[in-house]
Amino acid sequence: MDILYRPRRLRRTPLLREMVRETSLHLSDLIAPLFVGEGEKVREEMENLPGICRYSVDTVTEEAKILEDLGIPAVLLFGVSTRRDPVGSSAWEREGIVQRAISAIKRATSLIVITDICLCGYADHGHCGVMCEGRVDNDRTVEAIARVALSHAREGVDGVAPSDMMDGRVGVMRRTLDEAGFHEVFIMSYSVKYASSLYGPFREMMHSTPRFGDRRSYQMDPGNAREAIREVALDLSEGADIVMVKPALAYLDIVARVREHFLVPLAVYNVSGEYAMVKSLARMGFAEERELVTEVLLSLKRAGADLIVTYHAKEMARWLTTR
Ligand code: PBG
Ligand code: ZN
Repeated sequence: MDILYRPRRLRRTPLLREMVRETSLHLSDLIAPLFVGEGEKVREEMENLPGICRYSVDTVTEEAKILEDLGIPAVLLFGVSTRRDPVGSSAWEREGIVQRAISAIKRATSLIVITDICLCGYADHGHCGVMCEGRVDNDRTVEAIARVALSHAREGVDGVAPSDMMDGRVGVMRRTLDEAGFHEVFIMSYSVKYASSLYGPFREMMHSTPRFGDRRSYQMDPGNAREAIREVALDLSEGADIVMVKPALAYLDIVARVREHFLVPLAVYNVSGEYAMVKSLARMGFAEERELVTEVLLSLKRAGADLIVTYHAKEMARWLTTR
């Protein structure tokens, strides 16, 4: 048969396939989420997030060491407070859980420590901001989360990641950090965050399901793609260093568009619902777990992500270092 281009030629052996592979996963792509709450010696595995635990400050530091030993470069810290009030004031306490966790992890490891900045883990109503007359008040929230970011910077955080979706927060946060001399703390903004049904297991972990209403007045409408470009442009104009798209899997078109439009580092958040779906498929015996997870995470890189926040980080790191 007269076939000039035979694609199968380069698919013949594993080594050949590896040589011509366009996209690969690396340890340095991974950011591991870590949840820290009150107490001591806590390591409470979440039923809906197999393998993912809620820690206390002491155990989260132990876990961070394990992640560092596996070669994971960065963690994203979330605080789950039991002392909640309407404004989420435990988020910016001097000796708060995340504040203590930052300094403990920085002392014990050389990991890059990034903190999620939001009020939903600290506010009694579960919303991502300060409530005022039944609505999330944009400007009061921005003021509050800038304080949270500053309190983390004082403990030596490397980067802050605002996930609240208020308008203008990146600019105010940048100014607040700079005025206090924290020019080197970077901002990884959740620039494009959709109002998604894929956050279910996370909200259970954080006890942050809104007590009333939903998050559609601040998170993005899933029907909007052009708006994602505007959101990223806005955050960059306010000083964001890394931008993020979230969720990941159902929004790969958005990841690709953002990649095409901008030159900055792009992160994606492979969210809790995506993790739970993949885990249950593997647990039901319909897929080989390592291959499935590798394929999923690779798809995010292929779409254009540089960095992946994922609950698979630990297992993926193990797989990347053992053939
Ligand atoms: C809240 C926040 C959410 C996630 C990260 N930060 C959920 C939400 O908006 O309700 C989602 C993470 C996940 O589902 O894994 N600020
Ligand atoms: Zn929130």
